[in-house]
Amino acid sequence: MSNHTTIKNIIHSFNKEIEISSDKSISIRSILLASQAVGVSKISNLLESEDVLNTLKAIKKLGINYSKNSNVYSIHGFGVNGFNIKKNTTIHAGNSGTLARLILGLLVKAKYKIELIGDKSLSKRDFSRVIRPLRLMGANIVCKNNKLPIKIYGTKFLRPIVYNENIGSAQVKSCLILSALNTPGKTIINSKISRNHTELMLKFLKYPIKVVSKKGIDRISVQGLNQFKAFKYKVPGDISSAAFFIVLTLLSKKSRMVIKNVNINKSRIGIITILNKMGANIKLKKMKIYNGEEIADIYVKSKEILNSVNCSPSLNSSAIDEFLIIFLAAAKAKGVSSFKELGEMNKKESKRLDLAVKFLKLIGIKVDRLQNNINIHGNPNLKLSGNFEMKDFLKDHRIFFLSCITALTLGGNWKINDKESINTSFPNFLKTLKTIGAKIN
Ligand code: S3P
Repeated sequence: MSNHTTIKNIIHSFNKEIEISSDKSISIRSILLASQAVGVSKISNLLESEDVLNTLKAIKKLGINYSKNSNVYSIHGFGVNGFNIKKNTTIHAGNSGTLARLILGLLVKAKYKIELIGDKSLSKRDFSRVIRPLRLMGANIVCKNNKLPIKIYGTKFLRPIVYNENIGSAQVKSCLILSALNTPGKTIINSKISRNHTELMLKFLKYPIKVVSKKGIDRISVQGLNQFKAFKYKVPGDISSAAFFIVLTLLSKKSRMVIKNVNINKSRIGIITILNKMGANIKLKKMKIYNGEEIADIYVKSKEILNSVNCSPSLNSSAIDEFLIIFLAAAKAKGVSSFKELGEMNKKESKRLDLAVKFLKLIGIKVDRLQNNINIHGNPNLKLSGNFEMKDFLKDHRIFFLSCITALTLGGNWKINDKESINTSFPNFLKTLKTIGAKIN
């Protein structure tokens, strides 16, 4: 099977109801927490993507067994730090920053040294934001330049800290929360706003964790060395995957879509706020709360002309993985859109801000960039013709998705390499596109 996709036709009008792939952040957290629970947890609707499968492999290597029966994974936990670790264990986190950072928090007390490695993209990413506070807690970490491979040697001498985050990061705060489970006393993390799935899941598990929000800071206190029981969890749909279908619908002619059962946690739905500011009229219906998380169906329809937006940086963290596709909407909007303080985008699976600017220029859009701020000069009449080839984007799944949605809405003959990157977060991406009528080879 070739590892590229060709798209030569824009998508016809559609009116569809779809299910989107399950949430990656929640899938990874549900496995890691099930591995620390006492008893057999049952997780259904788990995302079966590489990042999540690597999480399952990781807990297995640490001595936690699991099995799958129809749609349900059973994970056999033995409590906090109840791993059964063998000498010379290596964990391969693949492409997943979330797995790599979160699991370090669970390994601070490991019986033997563990080596953590990752793929080419992950090996380029910086781990200093977790290494520094973990060392303050007493963790014994050896690595070069704060990058993978990282060796962690368990210690019995952990201490609770008060940690003030400078930059909001769910991966950093979750790593510290997980490390705090192993640490005596009360660990306090004063965190800037970022997705809060770990806190919500631990609250749902009745773990002694407290969050007090004041002036944009969440003061999270975690009382260490407690246990929690095995649980049942059904993973909802991923807004970050839904994002591509939302913009596909907006930019297609006379089309409508309902995306069922998507997680609409407030810390994740910046894309909806931003697109609605641009005139999109996206609606959330059948809202419900499930195990502490908010879920809804997303209703979206075509919008002939979108307006430009002056996007407040206060929305950045709640849309951090969605800016690539938001930029495509801005490229098709009337007027100049501005986005500021987006340096975090360059810390992801690839240097996404740099690549986004390159991509927008490739499709003929004027972009002004001043450091981490960009202005996108939208063109509502934008149509593409001629050949486009996408390669060398560090196999970043979200850049692959962006390229497909661009081809399906703006035209041109596209050859998009590194199709396998979809397996990171959304293995059914192309299949789902085909069910709504996309012609893809
Ligand atoms: C994630 C947190 C985000 C996000 C990433 C997944 C998580 O990063 O970009 O794709 O599951 O915790 P931050 O750590 O910068 O918040």
